[in-house]
Amino acid sequence: MIIAVDGPAAAGKGTIARALAKHFGFHFLDTGSLYRMVGLSALRAGGEPISARAAVAAAASLNPLAYSDEELRNEQVGSAASIAAAIPEVRTALLDFQRAFARKEPGAVLDGRDIGTVVCPEAQAKLFITASPEVRARRRQMELGSSDYESVLADIRARDDRDSKRATAPLVAAKDAVVLDTSEMDIEAAVLAAIRAAEARWVH
Ligand code: DC
Repeated sequence: MIIAVDGPAAAGKGTIARALAKHFGFHFLDTGSLYRMVGLSALRAGGEPISARAAVAAAASLNPLAYSDEELRNEQVGSAASIAAAIPEVRTALLDFQRAFARKEPGAVLDGRDIGTVVCPEAQAKLFITASPEVRARRRQMELGSSDYESVLADIRARDDRDSKRATAPLVAAKDAVVLDTSEMDIEAAVLAAIRAAEARWVH
């Protein structure tokens, strides 16, 4: 059983995907963290802007245990991840790991940008979690403890643009995904709606 949770940055998909995994007793993989590891590793290898060569090398020899969550969660690493993620060789190098994870029993929830479209097109339930850029910027601003709303909003827009316009596996809702706009929802309501949507899907 596979649940694919896709959507733009800061739409709430991580929180929702974790809650789904807990609810159904499934394994959980935040695939964005893999791209963040690649971005961080490329930053460490050569600074900004990251080089494609460093990103491809990092993706080919990735050890997910070598990074702490804390060092991955900042906007510099997020945007390096988004740049690395547009390189087709980086995406290919990360594919096997994600697909093997998705096959774990009794089931897995994966969150990212292309889970329902490329990584696991066979997923039984696909959710596309979104919210307006302004709402996502407010949420990200609180998360980062930043005082500069305008620059957080600009980062969100730049990332949306890069993630949805790239040629390989762009951010797009799968045709059979349930789209959930969380702009007007608190987290409890969004999680409940996601659980209902997933359950409704695998009855069919
Ligand atoms: O979800 P996140 O913000 O941690 O993801 C960081 C970047 O990684 C995001 O801007 C695009 C990329 N990404 C991707 O291209 N495909 C995925 N499945 C997950 C993330």
